[in-house]
Amino acid sequence: MSGRARAVAHPNFALAKYWGKADVAHNVPAVPSLSVTLDAMSTTTSVSFEPGLDADEVTFRGAPAADAFAARVTRLLDRVRAEAGLGLFARVETANDFPTAAGLASSASGFAALALAATAAAGLEVDAAGVSDLARRSSASAARSVFGGYAVLPAGAPGTTRLPAEPLFSADHMPLAITIAVTTEAEKSVGSTDGMGHTAATSPYYAAWVDDAPRTFARIRAALAARDFEALAAASEASALTMHACALAARPGLLYWNPTTVRVLDDVRAMRRSGLAAFFTIDAGPHVKILSHPRDADAISARVASLEGVVGVLRAAPGEGARLLDPAATDAP
Ligand code: PMV
Repeated sequence: MSGRARAVAHPNFALAKYWGKADVAHNVPAVPSLSVTLDAMSTTTSVSFEPGLDADEVTFRGAPAADAFAARVTRLLDRVRAEAGLGLFARVETANDFPTAAGLASSASGFAALALAATAAAGLEVDAAGVSDLARRSSASAARSVFGGYAVLPAGAPGTTRLPAEPLFSADHMPLAITIAVTTEAEKSVGSTDGMGHTAATSPYYAAWVDDAPRTFARIRAALAARDFEALAAASEASALTMHACALAARPGLLYWNPTTVRVLDDVRAMRRSGLAAFFTIDAGPHVKILSHPRDADAISARVASLEGVVGVLRAAPGEGARLLDPAATDAP
Protein backbone atom coordinates (compact mmCIF):
# COMPACT_ATOMS: atom_id res chain seq x y z
CA MET A 1 0.00 0.00 0.00
CA SER A 2 1.23 3.50 -0.84
CA GLY A 3 -0.37 5.13 2.22
CA ARG A 4 -1.19 8.22 0.20
CA ALA A 5 -3.74 9.08 -2.48
CA ARG A 6 -5.42 12.09 -4.01
CA ALA A 7 -8.84 12.24 -5.71
CA VAL A 8 -11.11 14.75 -7.37
CA ALA A 9 -14.91 14.71 -7.61
CA HIS A 10 -17.65 17.05 -8.81
CA PRO A 11 -21.03 17.93 -7.36
CA ASN A 12 -24.18 16.38 -8.77
CA PHE A 13 -27.65 17.86 -8.93
CA ALA A 14 -30.64 15.60 -8.41
CA LEU A 15 -33.43 15.79 -10.97
CA ALA A 16 -35.37 13.28 -8.84
CA LYS A 17 -34.72 14.44 -5.29
CA TYR A 18 -33.65 12.48 -2.25
CA TRP A 19 -35.28 13.87 0.91
CA GLY A 20 -35.82 11.60 3.91
CA LYS A 21 -34.14 8.53 5.36
CA ALA A 22 -35.49 4.98 5.64
CA ASP A 23 -32.73 4.19 8.14
CA VAL A 24 -31.08 7.09 9.94
CA ALA A 25 -28.27 5.05 11.56
CA HIS A 26 -27.15 3.62 8.21
CA ASN A 27 -27.98 6.80 6.24
CA VAL A 28 -30.28 5.01 3.83
CA PRO A 29 -32.65 7.08 1.62
CA ALA A 30 -36.41 6.54 1.82
CA VAL A 31 -36.88 7.52 -1.85
CA PRO A 32 -34.98 6.83 -5.09
CA SER A 33 -33.03 9.73 -6.61
CA LEU A 34 -31.53 10.42 -10.02
CA SER A 35 -28.85 13.01 -10.66
CA VAL A 36 -26.48 14.50 -13.17
CA THR A 37 -22.82 14.89 -12.22
CA LEU A 38 -21.20 18.17 -13.31
CA ASP A 39 -17.98 18.74 -15.26
CA ALA A 40 -17.24 22.00 -13.43
CA MET A 41 -16.73 22.83 -9.74
CA SER A 42 -14.55 20.30 -7.97
CA THR A 43 -13.36 19.08 -4.62
CA THR A 44 -9.81 17.76 -4.47
CA THR A 45 -8.84 15.69 -1.44
CA SER A 46 -5.63 13.99 -0.44
CA VAL A 47 -5.37 11.35 2.26
CA SER A 48 -2.17 10.12 3.79
CA PHE A 49 -2.07 7.49 6.55
CA GLU A 50 1.03 8.30 8.59
CA PRO A 51 2.81 6.92 11.61
CA GLY A 52 3.40 9.52 14.31
CA LEU A 53 -0.03 11.19 14.24
CA ASP A 54 -2.12 10.88 17.40
CA ALA A 55 -5.37 11.95 15.68
CA ASP A 56 -6.61 12.59 12.16
CA GLU A 57 -5.52 16.04 10.94
CA VAL A 58 -8.08 17.57 8.62
CA THR A 59 -7.44 20.82 6.80
CA PHE A 60 -9.82 22.67 4.53
CA ARG A 61 -8.17 25.08 2.08
CA GLY A 62 -5.01 24.94 4.18
CA ALA A 63 -6.64 25.82 7.54
CA PRO A 64 -7.84 23.41 10.25
CA ALA A 65 -11.33 22.20 9.28
CA ALA A 66 -14.40 22.97 11.40
CA ASP A 67 -14.95 20.37 14.15
CA ALA A 68 -18.23 19.04 12.76
CA PHE A 69 -16.69 18.47 9.31
CA ALA A 70 -13.52 16.92 10.77
CA ALA A 71 -15.68 14.52 12.82
CA ARG A 72 -17.54 13.41 9.68
CA VAL A 73 -14.20 12.83 7.94
CA THR A 74 -12.96 10.74 10.88
CA ARG A 75 -16.13 8.61 10.83
CA LEU A 76 -15.47 7.73 7.18
CA LEU A 77 -11.77 7.06 7.89
CA ASP A 78 -12.74 4.81 10.84
CA ARG A 79 -14.76 2.61 8.44
CA VAL A 80 -11.80 2.44 6.05
CA ARG A 81 -9.36 1.63 8.89
CA ALA A 82 -11.67 -1.12 10.18
CA GLU A 83 -12.00 -2.65 6.70
CA ALA A 84 -8.25 -2.44 5.98
CA GLY A 85 -7.09 -3.47 9.47
CA LEU A 86 -5.11 -0.24 9.63
CA GLY A 87 -4.07 1.45 12.88
CA LEU A 88 -2.74 4.74 11.51
CA PHE A 89 -4.30 8.18 11.68
CA ALA A 90 -4.42 10.27 8.52
CA ARG A 91 -3.56 13.70 7.26
CA VAL A 92 -6.46 14.89 5.07
CA GLU A 93 -6.26 18.00 2.92
CA THR A 94 -9.32 19.11 1.03
CA ALA A 95 -10.37 22.14 -1.01
CA ASN A 96 -13.33 23.18 -3.11
CA ASP A 97 -13.07 25.56 -6.04
CA PHE A 98 -16.65 26.80 -5.42
CA PRO A 99 -18.74 28.20 -2.51
CA THR A 100 -19.27 25.69 0.30
CA ALA A 101 -22.48 24.60 2.03
CA ALA A 102 -25.02 26.86 0.39
CA GLY A 103 -26.88 24.18 -1.52
CA LEU A 104 -24.19 23.74 -4.14
CA ALA A 105 -23.64 20.12 -3.15
CA SER A 106 -20.18 20.49 -1.60
CA SER A 107 -20.87 17.46 0.60
CA ALA A 108 -21.50 15.33 -2.51
CA SER A 109 -18.20 16.13 -4.20
CA GLY A 110 -16.40 16.23 -0.84
CA PHE A 111 -17.35 12.78 0.41
CA ALA A 112 -17.04 11.18 -3.04
CA ALA A 113 -13.45 12.47 -3.31
CA LEU A 114 -12.69 11.49 0.30
CA ALA A 115 -14.09 7.95 -0.06
CA LEU A 116 -12.02 7.34 -3.19
CA ALA A 117 -8.80 8.85 -1.81
CA ALA A 118 -9.15 7.11 1.57
CA THR A 119 -9.80 3.62 0.15
CA ALA A 120 -6.89 3.99 -2.30
CA ALA A 121 -4.54 5.33 0.40
CA ALA A 122 -5.46 2.37 2.64
CA GLY A 123 -4.76 -0.07 -0.20
CA LEU A 124 -8.31 -1.44 -0.19
CA GLU A 125 -9.42 -3.32 -3.31
CA VAL A 126 -12.83 -1.71 -3.80
CA ASP A 127 -14.71 -1.09 -7.03
CA ALA A 128 -16.73 2.04 -7.80
CA ALA A 129 -19.82 0.51 -6.15
CA GLY A 130 -17.83 -0.04 -2.94
CA VAL A 131 -16.56 3.57 -3.01
CA SER A 132 -20.11 4.77 -3.67
CA ASP A 133 -21.51 2.76 -0.76
CA LEU A 134 -18.85 4.18 1.57
CA ALA A 135 -19.53 7.75 0.39
CA ARG A 136 -23.28 7.19 0.88
CA ARG A 137 -22.77 6.50 4.58
CA SER A 138 -21.42 10.08 5.00
CA SER A 139 -23.72 11.90 2.57
CA ALA A 140 -26.20 9.97 0.46
CA SER A 141 -25.90 12.36 -2.47
CA ALA A 142 -22.11 11.72 -2.48
CA ALA A 143 -22.82 8.12 -3.56
CA ARG A 144 -23.99 9.54 -6.91
CA SER A 145 -20.91 11.78 -7.47
CA VAL A 146 -18.72 8.67 -7.64
CA PHE A 147 -20.24 8.14 -11.11
CA GLY A 148 -20.17 10.49 -14.08
CA GLY A 149 -23.12 11.36 -16.28
CA TYR A 150 -26.46 10.33 -14.82
CA ALA A 151 -26.65 8.16 -11.70
CA VAL A 152 -29.39 6.58 -9.61
CA LEU A 153 -29.39 5.97 -5.88
CA PRO A 154 -32.20 3.51 -5.09
CA ALA A 155 -34.35 3.76 -2.00
CA GLY A 156 -33.50 1.41 0.86
CA ALA A 157 -35.47 -0.01 3.75
CA PRO A 158 -34.96 0.02 7.52
CA GLY A 159 -31.98 -2.28 8.18
CA THR A 160 -30.42 -1.86 4.71
CA THR A 161 -26.66 -1.72 5.14
CA ARG A 162 -25.21 -1.80 1.61
CA LEU A 163 -26.66 0.60 -0.95
CA PRO A 164 -24.39 2.00 -3.66
CA ALA A 165 -25.51 4.36 -6.43
CA GLU A 166 -25.56 2.98 -9.97
CA PRO A 167 -24.48 4.61 -13.24
CA LEU A 168 -27.44 5.11 -15.60
CA PHE A 169 -26.30 7.08 -18.69
CA SER A 170 -22.99 8.60 -19.70
CA ALA A 171 -22.44 12.37 -19.74
CA ASP A 172 -23.03 12.60 -23.50
CA HIS A 173 -26.43 10.87 -23.33
CA MET A 174 -28.26 14.07 -24.28
CA PRO A 175 -27.25 17.69 -24.90
CA LEU A 176 -27.67 19.54 -21.61
CA ALA A 177 -26.27 22.71 -20.07
CA ILE A 178 -26.47 23.65 -16.41
CA THR A 179 -26.54 27.29 -15.35
CA ILE A 180 -26.43 28.05 -11.64
CA ALA A 181 -27.89 31.33 -10.40
CA VAL A 182 -26.15 32.07 -7.09
CA THR A 183 -28.65 34.09 -5.06
CA THR A 184 -26.66 34.92 -1.90
CA GLU A 185 -23.17 34.52 -0.48
CA ALA A 186 -24.54 33.49 2.94
CA GLU A 187 -24.27 29.88 4.12
CA LYS A 188 -27.49 27.91 4.49
CA SER A 189 -29.12 27.72 7.92
CA VAL A 190 -30.46 24.14 8.10
CA GLY A 191 -28.31 21.31 6.72
CA SER A 192 -29.90 18.53 4.71
CA THR A 193 -29.71 15.85 7.45
CA ASP A 194 -31.35 18.11 10.04
CA GLY A 195 -33.85 19.38 7.47
CA MET A 196 -34.86 15.87 6.43
CA GLY A 197 -35.18 14.71 10.02
CA HIS A 198 -37.34 17.68 10.92
CA THR A 199 -39.50 17.19 7.81
CA ALA A 200 -40.00 13.47 8.47
CA ALA A 201 -40.87 14.14 12.11
CA THR A 202 -43.29 17.03 11.63
CA SER A 203 -44.52 17.54 8.05
CA PRO A 204 -48.03 16.20 7.43
CA TYR A 205 -46.99 15.89 3.78
CA TYR A 206 -43.98 13.63 4.42
CA ALA A 207 -45.91 10.38 3.86
CA ALA A 208 -47.36 11.80 0.63
CA TRP A 209 -43.87 12.75 -0.54
CA VAL A 210 -42.48 9.25 0.13
CA ASP A 211 -45.49 7.75 -1.65
CA ASP A 212 -45.23 10.01 -4.72
CA ALA A 213 -41.43 10.16 -5.13
CA PRO A 214 -40.98 6.73 -6.82
CA ARG A 215 -43.58 7.61 -9.47
CA THR A 216 -41.96 10.98 -10.21
CA PHE A 217 -38.54 9.24 -10.25
CA ALA A 218 -39.89 6.72 -12.82
CA ARG A 219 -41.19 9.58 -15.01
CA ILE A 220 -37.79 11.30 -14.84
CA ARG A 221 -35.91 8.11 -15.71
CA ALA A 222 -38.25 7.36 -18.64
CA ALA A 223 -38.03 10.95 -19.95
CA LEU A 224 -34.24 10.81 -19.77
CA ALA A 225 -34.13 7.39 -21.50
CA ALA A 226 -36.30 8.84 -24.29
CA ARG A 227 -34.28 12.12 -24.36
CA ASP A 228 -37.65 13.85 -24.01
CA PHE A 229 -36.67 17.30 -22.72
CA GLU A 230 -40.22 18.54 -22.09
CA ALA A 231 -41.21 15.50 -20.06
CA LEU A 232 -37.90 15.69 -18.18
CA ALA A 233 -38.53 19.36 -17.41
CA ALA A 234 -42.06 18.78 -16.09
CA ALA A 235 -41.17 15.79 -13.91
CA SER A 236 -37.93 17.32 -12.56
CA GLU A 237 -39.65 20.56 -11.54
CA ALA A 238 -42.38 18.47 -9.92
CA SER A 239 -39.80 16.56 -7.87
CA ALA A 240 -38.09 19.74 -6.63
CA LEU A 241 -41.32 21.60 -5.87
CA THR A 242 -42.88 18.61 -4.10
CA MET A 243 -39.77 18.20 -1.94
CA HIS A 244 -39.87 21.88 -1.01
CA ALA A 245 -43.64 21.80 -0.41
CA CYS A 246 -43.11 18.91 2.00
CA ALA A 247 -40.32 20.80 3.83
CA LEU A 248 -42.36 24.04 3.87
CA ALA A 249 -45.15 22.15 5.62
CA ALA A 250 -42.85 21.01 8.48
CA ARG A 251 -43.58 22.60 11.88
CA PRO A 252 -41.98 25.14 11.90
CA GLY A 253 -41.71 25.26 8.13
CA LEU A 254 -38.36 25.02 6.36
CA LEU A 255 -37.98 27.81 3.83
CA TYR A 256 -34.78 27.41 1.83
CA TRP A 257 -35.64 30.14 -0.67
CA ASN A 258 -35.01 33.89 -0.65
CA PRO A 259 -36.74 36.54 -2.76
CA THR A 260 -34.14 36.14 -5.50
CA THR A 261 -34.80 32.38 -5.65
CA VAL A 262 -38.43 33.11 -6.48
CA ARG A 263 -37.44 35.78 -9.00
CA VAL A 264 -35.26 33.25 -10.85
CA LEU A 265 -37.98 30.56 -10.78
CA ASP A 266 -40.41 33.06 -12.24
CA ASP A 267 -37.91 34.00 -14.94
CA VAL A 268 -37.35 30.35 -15.94
CA ARG A 269 -41.09 30.06 -16.54
CA ALA A 270 -41.00 33.29 -18.57
CA MET A 271 -38.12 31.78 -20.61
CA ARG A 272 -40.29 28.79 -21.41
CA ARG A 273 -43.17 31.02 -22.50
CA SER A 274 -40.76 32.79 -24.82
CA GLY A 275 -39.72 29.48 -26.42
CA LEU A 276 -36.50 28.61 -24.56
CA ALA A 277 -36.29 24.98 -23.44
CA ALA A 278 -35.29 25.38 -19.78
CA PHE A 279 -36.29 24.08 -16.38
CA PHE A 280 -35.16 24.59 -12.80
CA THR A 281 -34.22 22.55 -9.80
CA ILE A 282 -33.46 23.70 -6.23
CA ASP A 283 -31.78 21.86 -3.37
CA ALA A 284 -31.51 22.58 0.36
CA GLY A 285 -30.36 26.12 -0.28
CA PRO A 286 -31.46 29.25 -2.11
CA HIS A 287 -29.62 28.86 -5.44
CA VAL A 288 -31.42 27.91 -8.63
CA LYS A 289 -30.01 25.40 -11.08
CA ILE A 290 -31.30 25.88 -14.63
CA LEU A 291 -31.08 23.02 -17.10
CA SER A 292 -31.36 23.79 -20.78
CA HIS A 293 -30.23 22.90 -24.27
CA PRO A 294 -26.56 24.00 -24.61
CA ARG A 295 -27.45 26.33 -27.53
CA ASP A 296 -29.56 28.46 -25.13
CA ALA A 297 -27.07 28.55 -22.23
CA ASP A 298 -25.39 31.87 -23.18
CA ALA A 299 -28.74 33.63 -23.40
CA ILE A 300 -29.95 32.08 -20.14
CA SER A 301 -26.77 32.95 -18.31
CA ALA A 302 -26.86 36.61 -19.48
CA ARG A 303 -30.52 36.85 -18.62
CA VAL A 304 -30.28 35.52 -15.05
CA ALA A 305 -27.08 37.49 -14.37
CA SER A 306 -29.08 40.69 -14.90
CA LEU A 307 -31.82 39.74 -12.40
CA GLU A 308 -31.90 41.73 -9.17
CA GLY A 309 -30.22 39.81 -6.34
CA VAL A 310 -28.28 37.31 -8.47
CA VAL A 311 -24.70 37.56 -7.15
CA GLY A 312 -23.07 35.12 -9.56
CA VAL A 313 -23.63 32.67 -12.37
CA LEU A 314 -21.79 29.35 -12.70
CA ARG A 315 -21.87 27.18 -15.83
CA ALA A 316 -21.48 23.44 -16.18
CA ALA A 317 -22.28 20.43 -18.36
CA PRO A 318 -22.63 16.74 -17.46
CA GLY A 319 -19.19 15.44 -16.49
CA GLU A 320 -17.04 12.65 -15.10
CA GLY A 321 -17.24 10.74 -11.85
CA ALA A 322 -14.68 10.72 -9.04
CA ARG A 323 -11.16 9.77 -10.09
CA LEU A 324 -7.67 9.41 -8.63
CA LEU A 325 -4.97 11.98 -9.33
CA ASP A 326 -1.23 11.70 -9.06
CA PRO A 327 -0.55 12.17 -5.33
CA ALA A 328 2.92 13.52 -6.02
CA ALA A 329 1.69 16.45 -8.12
CA THR A 330 2.50 19.71 -6.42
CA ASP A 331 -0.76 21.64 -6.91
CA ALA A 332 -2.14 21.15 -3.38
CA PRO A 333 -4.11 19.54 -1.92
O1 PMV B 1 -26.91 13.73 0.76
P1 PMV B 1 -27.21 15.01 1.41
O2 PMV B 1 -27.32 14.89 2.90
O3 PMV B 1 -26.27 16.10 1.00
O4 PMV B 1 -28.69 15.47 0.94
C1 PMV B 1 -29.00 15.90 -0.37
C2 PMV B 1 -30.37 16.47 -0.43
C3 PMV B 1 -30.73 17.25 -1.69
O5 PMV B 1 -29.59 17.88 -2.23
C4 PMV B 1 -31.73 18.33 -1.32
C5 PMV B 1 -31.39 16.37 -2.74
C6 PMV B 1 -30.48 15.42 -3.49
O6 PMV B 1 -30.98 14.36 -3.89
O7 PMV B 1 -29.31 15.75 -3.74
